[in-house]
Amino acid sequence: MEVIASAVANDPRAMVNSDSLAEIVVETDTVEETQHLARRLAESLEPGDFIALIGPLGAGKTAFVQGIAQALKVQGPVTSPTFVLMRLYRGRAPLCHVDAYRLEGSAEALVDIGLEDWLDDAVVALEWADTVIDVLPAQRLEVLLDYAESGRRIQIRGLGDRASEIVERMAGQR
Ligand SMILES: Nc1ncnc2c1ncn2[C@@H]1O[C@H](COP(=O)(O)OP(=O)(O)OP(=O)(O)O)[C@@H](O)[C@H]1O
Ligand SMILES: [Mg+2]
Repeated sequence: MEVIASAVANDPRAMVNSDSLAEIVVETDTVEETQHLARRLAESLEPGDFIALIGPLGAGKTAFVQGIAQALKVQGPVTSPTFVLMRLYRGRAPLCHVDAYRLEGSAEALVDIGLEDWLDDAVVALEWADTVIDVLPAQRLEVLLDYAESGRRIQIRGLGDRASEIVERMAGQR
């Protein structure tokens, strides 16, 4: 696993919003490395934290959530919620795993499945978050995954004070 870059609160967008923004970029060669990265992130997660996962088919969004689940000590397998839309797991903190792929950009559908009820009480991980980006909590963690030459390029961005601190902590641990 190679850390390619990290930037803390010097992004022009952060200044425009007078809001904090921190990010790290990592390349992982295997699914295990991606899950290890997710576990490192999850160490800091508490109920109320929102993780927006963004990336093409097969990029590793579900794999990343599996790493989060491992760190939260979720028992049993975590599988893709593409067809059931949302799954709730019991762990150190409740984990709410949602997939917006079949919602076709409908924010109402997110309300219909009851996501709002869990925003304060669970760690929420949403795959295909870019399709409903307008209705996401402004303060959130974004995990942007893409294919890279030797595996995956994973960018983790913290939007807002708390999320930025979590990413800064990860960057400092290197
Ligand atoms: N570095 C890597 N990180 C994550 N997954 C990897 C990596 N290298 C290979 N893979 C493989 O890529 C696949 C990722 O599948 P996963 O279901 O996590 O993707 P996804 O982004 O959730 O897809 P979907 O868009 O269908 O929801 C797995 O088969 C995994 O083994
Ligand atoms: Mg998936």
